[in-house]
Amino acid sequence: MQKLIFATNNQHKVTEIRSMLGDGFDIVTMQEAGIDTDIAEPYNTLEENARTKSETIYKMTGTDCFGEDTGLEVYALKGEPGVKSARYAGDGRNFAANIDKLLHNLEGKADRSARFRTVISLIINGKEQQFEGICTGKIIEEHRGTDGFGYDPVFVPDGDTRTFAEMSLHEKNVFSHRGKAMKKLISFLSDK
Ligand code: IMP
Repeated sequence: MQKLIFATNNQHKVTEIRSMLGDGFDIVTMQEAGIDTDIAEPYNTLEENARTKSETIYKMTGTDCFGEDTGLEVYALKGEPGVKSARYAGDGRNFAANIDKLLHNLEGKADRSARFRTVISLIINGKEQQFEGICTGKIIEEHRGTDGFGYDPVFVPDGDTRTFAEMSLHEKNVFSHRGKAMKKLISFLSDK
């Protein structure tokens, strides 16, 4: 079984990723590994932030691990909130406040197209590899659904009419940025 520490404190992301992986993987959270720290995301790119998460955990534990960073890129807002998605409305990382700010900034804009982009940084035996996943879609004007997290209640992926918050975990995984990046990671590990 492949043991990997997942460098996140976001339980939603852990649940999503565990639901994608079969019995061949043992995904250990930071909490389960006894690591009580919040890794900063100081950079302006998802790639660097993902790498700083995996490198921090690898240096602390010497165990194979991965980190990821995700941004919501809205075309009419020139790619905002992007790498700052978690703190769009301030340091509180408040999902509802972030959505309110997003909907406010999109008022009156005809183009509501957007995409989620995830970058995963995997470290195996000290060597780093990155995987990207993109999900295109649009931001709707009202909140719909109660599942998921973050911007899920206002994001409808291309190819469906429901928001991510109206889908089951498995349905979201089929479309999602994180699901696509994880598929690349799984295929990389199974080719090794
Ligand atoms: P980070 O990767 O933890 O920095 O996440 C950035 C922010 O993007 C999160 O706080 C969420 O608001 C949002 N986010 C990340 N992934 C998703 C997703 O799958 N659905 C909705 N929002 C997400």
